Amino acid sequence: MGKKENLLISIDNIEVTKELESDYNLIITNRDNLIKSLEDHKNPSLIILSKESIKTLSNSHKKDLIEQNSVLAVVDNDKDVAIAIVLGAVEVIKSPINIVELQHRIRSLLQLRQIRKEFKRTNKKLESITKIGDRQQETLRTLNKELDSYKNSLEDRVEETTKEIKLLYKEIEDTQKELIFTMGAIGESRSQETGNHVKRVAEYTDLLAEGYGLNRSEIDILKQASPMHDIGKIGIPDSILNKPSRLTEEEFIVMKEHSQLGFDMLKHSNRILLKSAAIVAHQHHEKWDGTGYPQKLEGEDIHIYGRITALADVFDALGSDRVYKKAWSDEKIIQHFVEQKGLHFDPKLVDIFLKNLKNVFEIRDRFSSN
Ligand SMILES: [Fe+2]
Ligand SMILES: [Fe+2]
Repeated sequence: MGKKENLLISIDNIEVTKELESDYNLIITNRDNLIKSLEDHKNPSLIILSKESIKTLSNSHKKDLIEQNSVLAVVDNDKDVAIAIVLGAVEVIKSPINIVELQHRIRSLLQLRQIRKEFKRTNKKLESITKIGDRQQETLRTLNKELDSYKNSLEDRVEETTKEIKLLYKEIEDTQKELIFTMGAIGESRSQETGNHVKRVAEYTDLLAEGYGLNRSEIDILKQASPMHDIGKIGIPDSILNKPSRLTEEEFIVMKEHSQLGFDMLKHSNRILLKSAAIVAHQHHEKWDGTGYPQKLEGEDIHIYGRITALADVFDALGSDRVYKKAWSDEKIIQHFVEQKGLHFDPKLVDIFLKNLKNVFEIRDRFSSN
């Protein structure tokens, strides 16, 4: 059994109090001592007052206690019922008191009080939960702000680093291009040809490759690789390379080795540019009809880079003075290509070349050696 509830009683009915004694902890008082009893016994579960007691209380400085506590008034008639309610009683019962009814009312009021208490506790809990929620939200907002600023600074750093990497990559690419071009020029200078020869060859290969229908990245790679076609001449003796007269058959055999030498120099690289340069060095002396060197490849077995560079190189060589010959006239050169269409050169490329003569001559003038 739970703890007995405290009932503060101020009515003149001894029988009633006797009936309640066994179920409740009674604080019995009278009108004169009512205020003092209330001060001594804080928060009784229920206050049972006679009409006179409730009047006394409502006239005193403690009248707030009526509102704050559950007050059950015991009155004599209907008129007093109204008075008791006005004065703040939550429940009123009329004399003569029916003890069963009284006990029922007391239980109801105590239950109500209990429910109110529960309700208050729940409310308090809710309030504190809401407060915690507010605090967490504030923390979350702060965290979010920090996260945002961190994200921004990270993005800035990524952007900066990307820029740096791009610059670096461009630098490497430029260096590679320059290096390849310089290597090509070294090959040519060994045979006393000018650096402009490789520049012109590069431009012609660009023009022909575009006419042939290669895509821009393929064209760019060929344009950078084609100046390397004679890199293998580094390995050919000066006496043969710069002989001012026609080469003997034995000398020509040695001279022809520059294709294989160039390929051997470049073939180990995995770089697309150097791989392409290796193809160009290897195949620029192959002929469409299979009579070229070193592999005697035929038709489209010759890589398109080899076929294009062959035409560009021969065109430029015929139009330039060399140690062993004078430059040919334009008419003679054009005649040569018409005759060699399908023999030395890819017929399709000869057509593209002849159709673009204006552009070809424009390039020749722009990169003139004189
Ligand atoms: Fe060559
Ligand atoms: Fe050349």
